[in-house]
Amino acid sequence: GTTLGTAAAEKGRYFGAAVGTYKFGDSTYMTVLNREFNSLVPENEMKWDHTEPNQSQFNFGNGDRIVSHARSRGMSVRGHTLLWHAQQPPWAQNMSGSALRNAAMNHVTQVATHFRGQIYAWDVVNEAFADGGGGGRRDSNLQRTGNDWIEVAFRTARAADPLAKLCYNDYNTDGINAKSTGIYNMVRDFKSRGVPIDCVGFQSHLGSSVPGDYQANLQRFSDLGVDVQITELDIAQANANAYATVTRACLAVSRCTGITVWGVRDCDSWRSGDNPLLFDCSGNKKAAYGAVLDTLNGG
Ligand code: G3I
Repeated sequence: GTTLGTAAAEKGRYFGAAVGTYKFGDSTYMTVLNREFNSLVPENEMKWDHTEPNQSQFNFGNGDRIVSHARSRGMSVRGHTLLWHAQQPPWAQNMSGSALRNAAMNHVTQVATHFRGQIYAWDVVNEAFADGGGGGRRDSNLQRTGNDWIEVAFRTARAADPLAKLCYNDYNTDGINAKSTGIYNMVRDFKSRGVPIDCVGFQSHLGSSVPGDYQANLQRFSDLGVDVQITELDIAQANANAYATVTRACLAVSRCTGITVWGVRDCDSWRSGDNPLLFDCSGNKKAAYGAVLDTLNGG
């Protein structure tokens, strides 16, 4: 393949990018996006604060724009994210207990229903585990509604959109460590009890090196019977070897279904000081781009 998307497709995978509708008027941005990627994820437009700014008043305009752009070009869409402790609307931040639980599950139902049939995979729950050595859940208003909030969210999402793959997504889970093992144990438990989980997303916001057990970590999750995806890839200074290593790992794990980079050009990145993406601010291909493309092409 001569582009990231076509090369990944030849390997049965997608290669996607996080996008923002506020850049859709930028022709350099759109040229790169439309040429290179065959999957999109909204960087912000499907989050709770955007989609339900006031309780029970939904705003799907920008999410719909991304979905319709993707569909018109044959790109798949990842949905990000139904429930997260961050980027909640103020009204939800101020809720607790059963009122919050009910509001959260109504949010899952309404959003997943609106986009039903159009989303390849939903990040149903994002970043619910704590950093550090404990391997347990993160404290949050959602967690304080009861430890079963995650499985209830997955069951609710499945009922609303039975065709979407349902993922758990997190960061600092890119090697075998206490946090990733906590998530591994949750996924194993969900699979044993029939909680509908289909995939695990590894954000992979990386420094300039990749954990030595990166591929082994993907493999141990896929051995539980879920797909795995690299969902928010960016690497400090766009280290080309590190980008190649991540790409190679995904290709080596049969249930790794795709890679998404968290933005198009360095200037579009949430960590733009690190120049972590595959294209410079003028839309030119960087060295890491060649490393990824060559790896996808088997070089
Ligand atoms: O839209 C407003 C704009 O009107 C205002 O002028 C501007 C002033 O600061 O803020 C704009 O909103 C910002 C938004 O990005 C769009 O640029 C928010 O303040 C800012 O908080 C928000 O940051 C996003 C961040 O999630 C929020 O937590 C980043 O774009 C986004 O890249 C980042 O993505 C997360 C993933 O969802 C989950 N994993 C980690 C990843 C990186 O933090």
